[in-house]
Amino acid sequence: MKKNYLTAFAMIGIAAIMQSCGGSGETKTETTSEAPAVKTEEVVVAAEEPFAAGKKIYMEKCIVCHQATGEGIAGAFPPLKNSDYLLADKVRAVAQTLNGSHEVMIVNGVSYNAPMPPQVDTKEDAVAVINYVLNSFGNNGGTVSLEDVKDVVVKPRP
Ligand code: HEC
Repeated sequence: MKKNYLTAFAMIGIAAIMQSCGGSGETKTETTSEAPAVKTEEVVVAAEEPFAAGKKIYMEKCIVCHQATGEGIAGAFPPLKNSDYLLADKVRAVAQTLNGSHEVMIVNGVSYNAPMPPQVDTKEDAVAVINYVLNSFGNNGGTVSLEDVKDVVVKPRP
């Protein structure tokens, strides 16, 4: 204790001398304690979460139009939440995700006719994201398998 006290006094003395000499004394206060290790990796969706792969695709690709709530934007982007159109035909939904869609469609009584560009390149990804959608936003739409979509043709990218 006493030693620290003395050291502090000595440092104040040195600082005073430096100042009085017009020197640009070190003003940097250095903390010697180790900074806690902060994890900076991006937050990844837990792999054990059901439909994790599909969720990741949704967050990257679909969310801009169909929104985080799955409710879409009235008049422009149809809802995936509680969508009668989606729930009526899962294979069609996979095909639309792969190849895009531009046709008049009635979703929950509202007419949509804006183009949706192709979103993913593989059936695996399309099935994953549709299974996520079928089981999100309160949907209880079951699942679709790769076997179910074996006849879907992946059209050449535009
Ligand atoms: C650029 C905006 C946009 C993006 C991105 C987008 N969609 Fe769409 N989606 C639309 C539009 C517009 C329609 C209506 C298309 C039509 O009328 O033919 C639609 C229709 C649909 C439908 C059928 C209608 C319904 O509401 O049930 C499904 C299923 C669908 N999208 C799934 C997806 C999935 C899954 C993704 C991401 C992998 C996605 N969409 C990304 C704009 C988008």
